[in-house]
Amino acid sequence: MPIDLAVVPVAGQGTRLLPSTKSQPKEMLPVGRKPVVQYVVEELARSGVRRLLFVTGAGKTSIENHFDINAELIAFLRETGKEELLEELDFERMGLEYFYTRQRKQLGLGHAVLCARPIVGNQSFVVALGDSIIGMNAQSAIVARMAEQFEKARAEAVIAFEEVPRDDVVQYGIAKPRAGARDVFELADIIEKPSVAEAPSNLAVAARYVFRPGIFDLLAETRPGKGGEIQLTDAIRTLIHKGGKVLGVRLAAGERRFDIGNFESYFRAFCEFALADPRYGPDLREYMRQLLR
Ligand code: UTP
Repeated sequence: MPIDLAVVPVAGQGTRLLPSTKSQPKEMLPVGRKPVVQYVVEELARSGVRRLLFVTGAGKTSIENHFDINAELIAFLRETGKEELLEELDFERMGLEYFYTRQRKQLGLGHAVLCARPIVGNQSFVVALGDSIIGMNAQSAIVARMAEQFEKARAEAVIAFEEVPRDDVVQYGIAKPRAGARDVFELADIIEKPSVAEAPSNLAVAARYVFRPGIFDLLAETRPGKGGEIQLTDAIRTLIHKGGKVLGVRLAAGERRFDIGNFESYFRAFCEFALADPRYGPDLREYMRQLLR
């Protein structure tokens, strides 16, 4: 059966983006015209996902509101003659089903995924981080390619990877490929936030995963690791060490990961998306040229 369920963890505190994230989720920060998490949902829908399970936490209700139909707003736009703005709400009609569960204590990404267990049950599923956009305007088919490899190789898990500059390996889970790292490769190991010296490659986990439900047992056994958090990477590592087949799929050239978890990459992403906006981009480009003169 094709995989049509994605777990989207959005419960993190987003402390690296304070004060912006004091009373709003980082996943709702705008990148160009849309909030980050809308790009994530649109990307998943294009890859065949039909059911989305958000793992939310305190202060994240604006995410739930964003994907609800807002009948009052629709009526208001009609009554005030602003019908042309209704197309901005088209994403509400993607025909997706939304489910929500809470991570009551922010114990890490691995723990957030484990919170999805009672609802996911015994089916394979995608995990897509709610704070990362893949590709300009989320034009990426990475999840569809991962799901295809998952079925073809009968893998236990498939993970998206992106090459990063050597100095950035300290921020991500890093792959140790079994042989050469082609577009699709098998993992010999994976290490969470290694030092530059101990990093086995510069291939960093790129915010998208496919799992069989067996990952839940491993997450339940995983003890807190780096940063005192229950790390998804540590459970994947156990899976590999127990002989599970775990594949990596590289992002294609046009599928860069935009990480909205820190200001440096958030600012860059905002600039790139705004410059690519068909209506406002050309003027902005001119404005920036003048600023930089
Ligand atoms: P991060 O690793 O960026 O952690 O989360 P964070 O807590 O959100 O941010 P900082 O480090 O305090 O700035 C990556 C993804 O995992 C989710 C986040 O919402 C984000 O989408 N996450 C993280 C959870 O759902 N729960 C957690 O306990 C941690």
